Amino acid sequence: MASPRVTFVGSFVQDLTFLCAEFPRPGETVVGRFATGPGGKGSNQAVAAARAGGRVAFIGAVGNDAFGRGAREFHVAEGIDCRLAIKADLPTGTAGIIVNAHAQNEIIVALNANDSLAPEDINAHADVLRDSMVMVSQLEANLAAQAHAMRLAGQAKATVILNPAPMRPDFDPALLADVHILIPNETEFCTLTRLLPSSRDAVAADFDERQLASLNDAELHTLCRQFGVETVIVTLGARGCLVSRTEGHAFIATMLGIKAVDTTGAGDAFVGAFAAALAEYGSDAVEKAARFANAGAALSVTRAGTAPAMPRRAEIEALLESRS
Ligand code: RIB
Repeated sequence: MASPRVTFVGSFVQDLTFLCAEFPRPGETVVGRFATGPGGKGSNQAVAAARAGGRVAFIGAVGNDAFGRGAREFHVAEGIDCRLAIKADLPTGTAGIIVNAHAQNEIIVALNANDSLAPEDINAHADVLRDSMVMVSQLEANLAAQAHAMRLAGQAKATVILNPAPMRPDFDPALLADVHILIPNETEFCTLTRLLPSSRDAVAADFDERQLASLNDAELHTLCRQFGVETVIVTLGARGCLVSRTEGHAFIATMLGIKAVDTTGAGDAFVGAFAAALAEYGSDAVEKAARFANAGAALSVTRAGTAPAMPRRAEIEALLESRS
């Protein structure tokens, strides 16, 4: 029997990455190195899930250009069922990424064709959504199309995961009503908390990452419960993640002894591996899937690049085994 399908609806972006010792200051020029490769949060997550052993489909939009053709070739080589709408009058999405010697990054993404992904493009592949056990969305493509896809997937009884990245000013919190599992990072968590009417009394108006870091697990769990979403997994960078569910919470620590060279796409590695594991283990095995995802994210930061840095299932299992 074929394994359950996991469908990602979101962005493909060509990453244009510059590596340097320190980020340039405003007005400064520094000498560095350049690399380009496939990226985009939706596509990175799909690659992470496929390499983690998932049966993966990707729905997105690209331009009629070399980057768009490269996207299709890359997905086919990764074994992904690639459903790309071609937006002939628009370029494929691109991102300018700077990575410094401390493995930190700064990113500007030009959505381009991703922003023209339309609800009709989603309808054209509704069969894939109907056949999915898990559906994953981010906020890096057209928001109306992504909201439509989440609604369709939910109606088809798929588990709907939202990674609210990048957080955008036009994000409508009402979208959370269609989400079963929300996976924000620290910054996205703070923005969402400030946005939600239900959280306003619980935190200061300037609630930020520094204040979040001072919370204990129980306090963070209490804030997660304000979202009205069954499961919230807050990824906490080098610390690990907190899994908050209606019935309780668990903290999963980052794996120690991992040498990070590039943290770009670590969140995507987590979300992709999590979705693949959840489809395989079953929707009740959230914590087990989060441990698997934690190991996937740890491995991804040991390599440069985004999609090409995603680890394969055997590596994730070996890491988990070595730490058990
Ligand atoms: O999450 C990392 C990704 O964000 C990069 O691949 C870049 O394309 C941006 O979309």
